[in-house]
Amino acid sequence: MLKIIRTADYAAMSRQAANIISAQVIQKPDCVLGLATGSSPIGTYQQLIDWYNKGDVDFSQVRTVNLDEYLALPRENDQSYYYFMHDNFFDHVNLPEGATNLPNGMAEDMAAECARYDALIESLGGVDLQLLGLGHDGHIGFNKPCGEFPKGPHVVDLAEETIEANKRFFASKDDVPRQAVTMGIGTIMAARKVVLVVSGADKAEIVKKAFFGPVTPQVPASILQMHPDVTVVADEAALSAL
Ligand code: GLP
Repeated sequence: MLKIIRTADYAAMSRQAANIISAQVIQKPDCVLGLATGSSPIGTYQQLIDWYNKGDVDFSQVRTVNLDEYLALPRENDQSYYYFMHDNFFDHVNLPEGATNLPNGMAEDMAAECARYDALIESLGGVDLQLLGLGHDGHIGFNKPCGEFPKGPHVVDLAEETIEANKRFFASKDDVPRQAVTMGIGTIMAARKVVLVVSGADKAEIVKKAFFGPVTPQVPASILQMHPDVTVVADEAALSAL
């Protein structure tokens, strides 16, 4: 079932999403959280850090698995998702060393790395709550529009527009990674609960397509219409095309 929570703005969206995540952690202190990068969840992480500092939420037993990572970008690079997660969340709460996981985009054998990540998620007992953002073309994680929904972790070639959009973060366009490793749609759909945060008028059209249009791998997020427990937390601007 898909539920939409409408909020006034980005700050309220972030608070609502953080509320759902902290409720999950309170109900199941040793839960597995699936986490996302991008600008959409930053406010959610800030809110969780704030509540952690106030003593309202405790991450000491939580384990995390992230959706995706660039290929061939070392952890220390401030554009890596490893860096992003530490900078925006992990380093500010009491998640124990070793409790956080991301796919390793530096692995020599990426097929083996994808198999390792898949087995890791399985060994943790699957994802209790998966947090997602939404790309302008409907991508979730780095599952971009394609002919069929990919099942498990896999390597993708980044779309030219994604490379173009990201080049501002790098010294030159040549420095932008060409590939990424991402959880598959199957892994995301296997999460027991999904929370998708989306904000801004520039996402309004894709929100309409993804959640009110046909389910198609051409709009990867549309598959979430088939998930038993999805909450879309969206601000008014993101819902303005409905
Ligand atoms: C990237 C990430 C996605 C994210 C998307 C949207 O491609 N791999 O996980 O959801 O961008 O980013 P933003 O939230 O900044 O719009």
